[in-house]
Amino acid sequence: MQGSFWAITLLVTKVYSSFDCSFNSTYPKQYVAHRAKAIAIDGVLDDQVWKSSKFTDDFVDISTTVVPRLKTNVKMAWDDDYLYIGAVLEEPDIWANITSVCHCNNSTNDQVIFHDNDFEVFVDADGSTHNYKEFEMNAANQDWVLLLNRPYADGGGENSTRVYGTDGFDIVGRKHAVSIKGKLNDINSVNKQWSVEIAFPLQQLYQLNAASHPKDGDFWRINFSRVEYHVAKEFGEYVKTNPVEDNWVWSPQGEIAMHLPERWGILQFSTSTRFDTPPKYYDEWQIRSIAMELYYNLHSFRDANGFFTNDVSLLNNPAFGCAGSIFVANSTDRFTGYINSVDQQYYAIIDDLRFLQVFKRE
Ligand SMILES: *[C@@H]1O[C@H](CO)[C@@H](O)[C@H](O)[C@H]1NC(C)=O
Ligand SMILES: *[C@@H]1O[C@H](CO)[C@@H](O)[C@H](O)[C@H]1NC(C)=O
Ligand SMILES: *[C@@H]1O[C@H](CO)[C@@H](O)[C@H](O)[C@H]1NC(C)=O
Ligand SMILES: *[C@@H]1O[C@H](CO)[C@@H](O)[C@H](O)[C@H]1NC(C)=O
Ligand SMILES: *[C@@H]1O[C@H](CO)[C@@H](O)[C@H](O)[C@H]1NC(C)=O
Ligand SMILES: *[C@@H]1O[C@H](CO)[C@@H](O)[C@H](O)[C@H]1NC(C)=O
Ligand SMILES: *[C@@H]1O[C@H](CO)[C@@H](O)[C@H](O)[C@H]1NC(C)=O
Repeated sequence: MQGSFWAITLLVTKVYSSFDCSFNSTYPKQYVAHRAKAIAIDGVLDDQVWKSSKFTDDFVDISTTVVPRLKTNVKMAWDDDYLYIGAVLEEPDIWANITSVCHCNNSTNDQVIFHDNDFEVFVDADGSTHNYKEFEMNAANQDWVLLLNRPYADGGGENSTRVYGTDGFDIVGRKHAVSIKGKLNDINSVNKQWSVEIAFPLQQLYQLNAASHPKDGDFWRINFSRVEYHVAKEFGEYVKTNPVEDNWVWSPQGEIAMHLPERWGILQFSTSTRFDTPPKYYDEWQIRSIAMELYYNLHSFRDANGFFTNDVSLLNNPAFGCAGSIFVANSTDRFTGYINSVDQQYYAIIDDLRFLQVFKRE
């Protein structure tokens, strides 16, 4: 009996002390984007760079382990001016009801695209979780562009031409096109898929971020989502049979929430001419993970106690043992956390509004 008692004690100690400080189990999906030459934005992924580029993994359900009934895959590429996205959406029922959008402040003609089936792109160029861009488009090539100053959960709000007219945020100079294998809005057509090509001016994507024109080896954060409704064919048209949509994403968020930029995938810019370039490890992952643990733990602490604490030991989280040092400046309803990596190479600052900055000491 004595022997097994000690065995159990040692096991528990080992599990605790072997906390995985790499945070590799939550490491996001990563994609190496290669240089493109002259892509024709026509919705058809037949350009040279697409022929050489790999598809992402199949999209998965945003919050469950149910395998989506239709496949979605994406490719990414870039050149001096643009980030290119190519996506293929398997689809037997190709429909779109929003066939014109004014991109202006007019409630009858400025609809949000996700009321139709859509394809969505989210970009956080500097990984700060603030001032990230969202783009949605449907099979009729109509789109919606918005800037989030910060996630909705942190009090962020939509900045778009829909809300603010010509003063609103826009991705100026974007190009996009749809190609359909089948026929749009025709219930008698036998359909296979719709595919999209998008060219985003790089500068438009990183404006308002602490990021600049990408170089070989740079990382941005990106995610994709597909909204898909159940439809039936009735009276000659497609009709929704359930007002609640399915959400399929490149990599799972764990909950029905796209607005968690810290969990988005990693876009690695590469100038290599070898299209089998292995991904480079995102070295900031550890310090970013610790910072986000601090963010979530401090918010839980405040929910329970009414104020933010500066005593990290009260949070009782082994993740904080992975840092070299953590210092929290607190008030009742604000905090700023400062985190050093053990080797002092990385330094992160996170605040109560999720604003995350990571610095590397040279
Ligand atoms: C985490 O993943 C990276 C890249 O695959 C690897 O080099 C590293 O050894 C991993 N760390 C742990 C603790 O598994
Ligand atoms: C809004 O758009 C509709 C449809 O295009 C148009 O009839 C209406 O005049 C517009 N309203 C305003 C205030 O511009
Ligand atoms: C947008 O339109 C709504 C409804 O017409 C109006 O109340 C609002 O002031 C407009 N916003 C701007 C920024 O023009
Ligand atoms: C919306 O974004 C633009 C930048 O495109 C900025 O100039 C403007 O101040 C923002 N509007 C609000 C209300 O934040
Ligand atoms: C598209 O719009 C028409 C006309 O409003 C409506 O009858 C139909 O149900 C809509 N289809 C879908 C799939 O929402
Ligand atoms: C994509 O976003 C969803 C929702 O925020 C998230 O669950 C998922 O982890 C993200 N995955 C990737 C690879 O970005
Ligand atoms: C900061 O945290 C400490 C430790 O939990 C606490 O005693 C103090 O009241 C907090 N300060 C404020 C202004 O909430």
